Amino acid sequence: SLRIVRTVAELRALLDPARRAGQRIGLVPTMGAFHDGHRSLMERAAGTCDLVVVSLFVNPTQFAPTEDLSAYPRDEARDAAIAEGAGVGVLFAPGVEEVYPDGFATTVSVRGLTDGLEGARRPGHFDGVATVVAKLLNMVQPTVAFFGQKDAQQALVIRRLVRDLDLPVRIEVCPTVREPDGLAMSSRNAYLGPEDRARAVGLSRALAAGERAIAGGERDPDRIAEIGRAVLADHGIEPEYFAVVSERALTPVAWIEDDVLLAVAARVGPARLIDNTPVTIS
Ligand code: PAJ
Repeated sequence: SLRIVRTVAELRALLDPARRAGQRIGLVPTMGAFHDGHRSLMERAAGTCDLVVVSLFVNPTQFAPTEDLSAYPRDEARDAAIAEGAGVGVLFAPGVEEVYPDGFATTVSVRGLTDGLEGARRPGHFDGVATVVAKLLNMVQPTVAFFGQKDAQQALVIRRLVRDLDLPVRIEVCPTVREPDGLAMSSRNAYLGPEDRARAVGLSRALAAGERAIAGGERDPDRIAEIGRAVLADHGIEPEYFAVVSERALTPVAWIEDDVLLAVAARVGPARLIDNTPVTIS
């Protein structure tokens, strides 16, 4: 059954014997408000590891002062029940003081990869993510840590940080889980009223239209962006970006010759939503 722990000391006491016994420890870092996307990461971890730790921490340092930190949905009891049902052994839910004690002064910053897309629109966001994920990886010392393709730039930033700091962990990126109409699951979908919820399907439809055009032979990224933007406009959405970028560096491409990522961000009513689709060029 599920154990809930609040301190790094308790966590270590619980995990050390498992590690010494040679068990594979899986970590799924989260900010709670679980949906089927989170559940898929937990189930994947439970299917491949001996002991699964889910961290639940709404990390204040990755929210800008203008963002939704105080409004971010929180329901630990519900989250604990979902985690238990998904085969999770430990829910690590520390308070802010446990993660950022008085005098905290260190930041992990990944350059380059964080210049575009979300990094350009959310200054400081990826410093907050990289710092807290580096800490969580050191607190738990998992064999494998699981992340979602939904946050494609985040996943690449974490792969980079693990390589650059020689962290002894394997990173596994799991596919985006979607609602039946294609909307990528997100804790922020809870902010959508019925009309905005209906419009929000425009993001995944715009990505799908871009993907189809590439499959049909279109190689001009500006043409793909026009096609995506037209679908978004049909849904009353003016995106912050609809980008065609290289799959690894996330830099804009002049021509589509290699694998690319189509990435979109848009405000839909009260919610800021993101989605992406990797496109393989054969
Ligand atoms: P959070 O938004 O709670 O997401 C936790 C994990 O679930 C992330 O790896 C995210 O990519 C994944 N995820 C979210 N929606 C998904 C979906 N529809 N399908 C598949 N996976 C999905 O991302 C964070 O928290 C934070 O930035 C964190 C990494 C925990 C650092 O604070």
